[in-house]
Amino acid sequence: MGIRLIKISAVYFLIGVGIGYYMSTVHDYSLTPVHAHINLLGWGTLTLAGIIYHLFPSVGKTKLALGHFWLHNIGLPLMMIGLAFAVHGNDSYLIATIIGANVTVLGVLLFVINILKNLKQPVEAE
Ligand code: HEM
Repeated sequence: MGIRLIKISAVYFLIGVGIGYYMSTVHDYSLTPVHAHINLLGWGTLTLAGIIYHLFPSVGKTKLALGHFWLHNIGLPLMMIGLAFAVHGNDSYLIATIIGANVTVLGVLLFVINILKNLKQPVEAE
């Protein structure tokens, strides 16, 4: 789970940085919120979650981790696609942003419950 998440987060990194590069090249900064959220919620956050899941199997091997994995990776792209249309004045896909944001928040909630409930000192480190 952890390793898979880190690999996925690296793809978010490439997409996020690619959007930043594109904006700098064409001098159009309208995609800034998409760029920032993909980099932070995709790359930054999911890399950290992946490292935690890998270092602490008591957290990474739970149903909560699986739920977080799927909700975060379904919610974030949905939210970003809707947001990309919205910042260009097209609100037809606003529903995707709203659903995606709610799904992502739910995923983050599962992550936090998982950490609070299952994060323990690994046996060998005691
Ligand atoms: C080569 C890599 C990157 C390029 C070319 C790039 C480019 C940009 C550009 C052009 C903007 C818009 C600036 C503006 O609206 O005035 C921006 C904003 C932003 N970037 Fe990046 N970026 C890169 C990497 C990153 C990374 C790795 C992160 C976070 C982990 C990040 C987070 C943000 C944030 C939070 C903003 C919004 C700042 C604000 O509106 O005040 N960027 N970036």
